[in-house]
Amino acid sequence: MSSHDLILGLDFAGWQPGGAIIEVGTQRKGGTGSSTDLLDLAGRLGVDFATVDFSEATHRSVQRSAAAAHAHLADGATFLRTYPGAISILYLDNYDIGYSDEHFANLKGRIGTLYRDKGFDDSAVVVQNMTSATVHLDQTLAALPKLTPRCVVGIDDTFHSDEARCWLGKGTLVVPYLVTSGFRIAASHAQGLVLTRGWPAP
Ligand SMILES: C[S@@+](CC[C@H](N)C(=O)[O-])C[C@H]1O[C@@H](n2cnc3c(N)ncnc32)[C@H](O)[C@@H]1O
Repeated sequence: MSSHDLILGLDFAGWQPGGAIIEVGTQRKGGTGSSTDLLDLAGRLGVDFATVDFSEATHRSVQRSAAAAHAHLADGATFLRTYPGAISILYLDNYDIGYSDEHFANLKGRIGTLYRDKGFDDSAVVVQNMTSATVHLDQTLAALPKLTPRCVVGIDDTFHSDEARCWLGKGTLVVPYLVTSGFRIAASHAQGLVLTRGWPAP
């Protein structure tokens, strides 16, 4: 199960979203199909959909899917800051984390110099993971003024460490920020979670 499935699994009965679904981190070739799945949900809810990615390769590959007309080649926070409408569902799954030195080495092999070319320092796993946390928080803050009173924020690659008593991964900073800003955790699994504000009733 991928984290965007947590959004798809919510009970939307009776909810009138009033804003678009935005995904930052477009589906990759051979990946989870998150963009086409969220586009399908947008169709069912009767709202707009946009997916954003700053990788030209990813942007090219999504052109062969149903989500092509909704895909934007842009930095996530920049796109969200300039997005002209309201947002009801935000799905953040972008700047990757490394789970270990070995995974980080593998990740760097796969993403090549993409993040370095975008001006990020990806020289070590800790730097990579804190940058990921900061990038996802920056996107959340950019979207916040546009989020409808009843809304959903989903985030991938985020885990609770009982030992460290904090959230780790892409949502290291986003989760505590949203939880102290009126959001609650509505669903979670081993790799991610969904927070909602204003619904469903606890
Ligand atoms: C894990 S993949 C997305 C996977 C997709 N959601 C899926 O489930 O198939 C991460 C993507 O985030 C993109 N990315 C990383 N940082 C970004 C940023 N600041 N703005 C836009 N895209 C970004 C990368 O180019 C990469 O394509």
